[in-house]
Amino acid sequence: MKIIKQILCYSLLLSTQLVHGQENQEMNAFIDGLLKKMTVEEKIGQLNLVTAGEAVTGSVVSTDVESKIKAGNIGGIFSMTSPVKIRKAQEIAISQSRLKIPIIFGMDVIHGYKTIFPIPLGLASTWDMGLIRKTARVAAIEATADGLNWTFSPMVDISRDPRWGRISEGSGEDTYLSSRIAKEMVLGYQADDLSKNNTLMACVKHFALYGAAEAGRDYHTTDMSLHRMYNEYLPPYKAAIDAGAMSIMTSFNDINGVPASSNHWLLTDLLRKDWKFNGLVVTDYTAVNELIDHGLGDLQKVSELSLKAGVDMDMVGEGFLTTLKKSLDEGKVTEAEITRACRYVLEAKYRLGLFEDPFRYCDEQRAKTEILTEEHLKLAREAAGKSFVLLKNDKNTLPLKKQGTVAVIGPLANTGSNMPGTWSVSADLVKTPSLVEGMKAALGKEVNIVSHLGSNLTDDPILQERSTMFGRTIPRDERPSDTIIEEALNISRDADVIVAALGESSEMSGESSSRTDLNIPQSQRRLLEALLKTGKPIVLVLFTGRPLTLTWENEHVPAILNVWFGGTETGKAVADVLFGTINPSGKLPATFPQNVGQIPLYYSHKNTGRPLAKDAWFQKFRSNYLDVSNEPLFPFGFGLSYTTFKYGPIEMPKTNMSKTENLKISVRIENIGQYDGEEVVQLYIQDLVGSQTRPVKELKGFQKIFIKKGESKEVDFMISEEDLKFYNQDLKFISEPGKFKVFVGTNSRDTEEAEFELLD
Ligand code: BGC
Repeated sequence: MKIIKQILCYSLLLSTQLVHGQENQEMNAFIDGLLKKMTVEEKIGQLNLVTAGEAVTGSVVSTDVESKIKAGNIGGIFSMTSPVKIRKAQEIAISQSRLKIPIIFGMDVIHGYKTIFPIPLGLASTWDMGLIRKTARVAAIEATADGLNWTFSPMVDISRDPRWGRISEGSGEDTYLSSRIAKEMVLGYQADDLSKNNTLMACVKHFALYGAAEAGRDYHTTDMSLHRMYNEYLPPYKAAIDAGAMSIMTSFNDINGVPASSNHWLLTDLLRKDWKFNGLVVTDYTAVNELIDHGLGDLQKVSELSLKAGVDMDMVGEGFLTTLKKSLDEGKVTEAEITRACRYVLEAKYRLGLFEDPFRYCDEQRAKTEILTEEHLKLAREAAGKSFVLLKNDKNTLPLKKQGTVAVIGPLANTGSNMPGTWSVSADLVKTPSLVEGMKAALGKEVNIVSHLGSNLTDDPILQERSTMFGRTIPRDERPSDTIIEEALNISRDADVIVAALGESSEMSGESSSRTDLNIPQSQRRLLEALLKTGKPIVLVLFTGRPLTLTWENEHVPAILNVWFGGTETGKAVADVLFGTINPSGKLPATFPQNVGQIPLYYSHKNTGRPLAKDAWFQKFRSNYLDVSNEPLFPFGFGLSYTTFKYGPIEMPKTNMSKTENLKISVRIENIGQYDGEEVVQLYIQDLVGSQTRPVKELKGFQKIFIKKGESKEVDFMISEEDLKFYNQDLKFISEPGKFKVFVGTNSRDTEEAEFELLD
């Protein structure tokens, strides 16, 4: 029986390989034929990616797009939407350019298209891989229904610095979790066949290490050992590529002293040769031109360097378009290098089915029926509810009873445009319900929701203005702050509960939004203090695109629900969770520090030669601070539930394994609280002895399970040699025999532990 199965599997594999082989042969023959007809100028034209500027995502905007299409000077356009507009542009390419090569249409579809899901950091907090894949699938359906075929997502940059505003766009600090999510996003966008009219080409970004910008300042230098790069920062990009991502975007930063967009080691040796990537390499916005400021030469020189390093497509800057022919004539680049880049662009178009039918994504009917559907909104509500992380819930303040009056107060209470969060550039901000509107819609007449006119995000008008982009305004309230607070107190007077909707505006995180102070702004703190003095139960509903420093709030506010930016259905989902229709199950994908001085603070750090004794917070001549303990405020993986899960001890039938065996780890988890609920059971390991220093804990598995109240479940994990491997000093991916610790728990801090041995 086993043999028959093996033969069947083998012949299936063989036939799939044959089909792919045949498809590749057909594609290669077609593209060879086309390349023969192309002039050098036409080949260079294909390397040019311009923006139509519907969403302004960089500091310069492309010009003369129509005449460039006619001249064959454009390979792709991004930030143009709707099947009508896209058809029009495509028609120009198909009927008025000499070779009629179709254009590829891209957009930053990052966490949903029109139906907006939680920001990526929020989606990561669900730890729900099936759900995350579904959100990417819906994003692909909606974006392709509106004419697009390429998204600049997933963003998989690991970040351990919440000062960096773009931490909101990724999956947080952990290599394993981010890699799992990268794979799901790619499979969601691209599904099983890129040429279908509802699949979207993924673009994994920003390659590489963008999230390690020094001091958390956007676009800043990175510098890191190869050891850290290979073990901690590179795996998520690799996971996206292994899942089939057909394009990749270079990052703005430098790596080992060479900017990514001109880094031959990165783009050719590692990406093409080691990882066997056979998709399209595109730069980030004007990244080629920025090599001039990095100090690598003038535009002609940097364009040459970039092409030679392995870049295929130049986003917006037009360095390729304007200088490569000259460099060819001067013998600085070869036609083979230009042809190589052009081939990758044409292959992407071929895979998308654009040569077969350039208008396959221009179906106006689909645009009317497949966007913002009831089903999509339902998924958005579910995803939002599951992304919220309950950080504190003293004396069971939550869930609230569905009765009485609730006052919803704060600058984030009445602003619909801030709900979708950063990078939801295609969202309809005008139609997105505010928190109050969403809560009212979900609760109907059962609960009386009252609110106030508004309050200021910050005392600092300049910060407020800088945090108001993409039409996501929180208008300044010019009344004296005492009057604003007085109004809030008046509104709250008859309320049974106060919901304080505070935190960041959506543009306080995201691109070009680094911060050095991660406290809730002073004006909001004063409002919160005044509300606390009323003595009423208060729930802080915290909006944020990054871990904030919440030490004061944690000391004073009875309940804190971190809702990130939850997308189109935020308000309804907040009502679902506050009133217990949904039991919160989100877990933090990034550590919340006690203060900014602790950053970078992440759970999978190394031990040092002078670690602190367990439970000590200061010891002389040990690795610590004088003024704050080493502990985070909320650790990675943390998140409360309305119920309580009790973990039993780790059970292992065996405490050693050979390299060819799997080791079974089991834990029984009991729901001893009052509610049914979901729990993310997390498994970590520590390599106790090895040739290199290894992290004190590394996530290697997790399962999200549902347990009814009063019931229990056994959760089994299998550890294989693969889970114990790491890149050693020679960058070989190996395991080393010896002792390991295994931890299982509800977060990275509170765990059960045991030991096992990997045998030689
Ligand atoms: C961002 C990218 C984005 C691109 C196109 C850049 O500024 O860094 O993440 O995909 O713009 O909008």
